[in-house]
Amino acid sequence: MAVRVLVGAQWGDEGKGKLVDILSKDVDIVARYQGGANAGHTIEIGDQKYVLHLIPSGIFHEHCVAVIGNGVVIDPVALMEEIRFLESQGISLKGRLKISHNAHMIMPYHKLLDSLVEKGLAPIGTTGRGIGPAYYDKAARVGIRIVDLLDHDILESRIRRNLEEKNQIISKIYDAEELDVEKIIDEYKRFDELIDEYVTDTAFYLNDAIRDGKDVLCEGAQGALLDIDHGTYPYVTSSSPISGGATIGLGIAPTAIDSVIGVMKAYTTRVGLGPFPTELDDAVGEHLLVKGQEYGSTTGRRRRCGWFDAVAMRYSAMLNGIGSVGMMKLDVLSGLEEVRVCTAYEYEGRRTNHFQTNLRRLEIMHPVYESFPGWQEDISSVLSFDDLPENAKAYITAVEDYIGVRVTCVSVGPERSQILFPGDVPAW
Ligand code: GDP
Ligand code: IMO
Ligand code: MG
Repeated sequence: MAVRVLVGAQWGDEGKGKLVDILSKDVDIVARYQGGANAGHTIEIGDQKYVLHLIPSGIFHEHCVAVIGNGVVIDPVALMEEIRFLESQGISLKGRLKISHNAHMIMPYHKLLDSLVEKGLAPIGTTGRGIGPAYYDKAARVGIRIVDLLDHDILESRIRRNLEEKNQIISKIYDAEELDVEKIIDEYKRFDELIDEYVTDTAFYLNDAIRDGKDVLCEGAQGALLDIDHGTYPYVTSSSPISGGATIGLGIAPTAIDSVIGVMKAYTTRVGLGPFPTELDDAVGEHLLVKGQEYGSTTGRRRRCGWFDAVAMRYSAMLNGIGSVGMMKLDVLSGLEEVRVCTAYEYEGRRTNHFQTNLRRLEIMHPVYESFPGWQEDISSVLSFDDLPENAKAYITAVEDYIGVRVTCVSVGPERSQILFPGDVPAW
């Protein structure tokens, strides 16, 4: 029995969905603990490609129960779409999906305000899914929760109260068209019937399951460097993707967590605005973009690409307590003459290997690189870790040395089976 947390160790899109799916083969419950439909977690099984936004990535294993915890902000429209899509693919969620009654809902005004704020003076490059405004309302204690769907009078009065204020902001500050309160009330009352069968107290469910010796995998969305407290603020998301977020977002105690798995790309990407010390605006950046197909799974936006940043990853390993690392997309580095790792930052003649969350400082930092010989072989059909090119293995060892954590699995393609294990160390 184990409770493990799987976290994105960089700026998101590391390949969490693929790894959660692989791990879920031996897990009873997969539980999402934060974020919302800003996430896009891709799972490829044979020729089928699925992108999940809200439903945990363990859902493709029939024995696996999927939990959406209280820390997630749920867009009922996106959720229903996802449920319908999965059912159309023959994946039944009956009895296998549990949604926290305490989770907050994304309302139409959250999505509208997200897009209006982004058009203003200080854009973040958000996904436009209403995430920031929903967490804002949660903290301001005016959020509307899944439990509020049960009592239509409460639901209606909360929507009326909130919209009275939000419509003022929408029309007076942003000069946009006000939303129709009656339409929203009708729409959300209908969600009650649609979602009801899945709603439960997931904190009790999870704690009972842990007590009964079940294997639980907590699935993080986004990545540590997008964490609201520890990321590159303000260019972050509005929740806590780091492993500690799992305790709050699921209602399980820190002492219940046995280990933390960090997922990283063999290089770095970031989508949206904000500092990115190892970003490349050259032929190598183009290679990573094209070969890695680095376009957002949720918004289709082009992802910014750069070398692997060991300074950032060490920081992430520290914040999350990462005990093992899944290195994803190693195949994308094939064909490069050299591969680089950023081992320190330099600024004003000083060198540091401490990640900086002070934006001004981070923007003037120059990455210090260590260079390694590349490899030309296509590694996407390699079946055993030992058969990887020597230069690829040397790169993995160098990364391990810099971050101080073992790489316990290496992904060489998007499909479920394209995963290699060094073998001399437990995978997770
Ligand atoms: P997540 O948000 O962390 O789940 O990651 P995304 O699904 O947003 O982005 C990862 C992308 O890389 C997806 O398109 C995956 O199918 C793909 N992918 C995952 N692992 C590998 C890999 O090892 N090699 C390649 N080439 N693609 C991969
Ligand atoms: P997964 O789970 C990558 C980024 C956005 C933006 C910032 C804030 O697929 O790894 P938000 O919509 O959350 O208010 O946007 O965070 N972002 C992600 N980047 N992967 C994600 O999720 C992301 N979710 C949000 O691009 O920079
Ligand atoms: Mg993603």
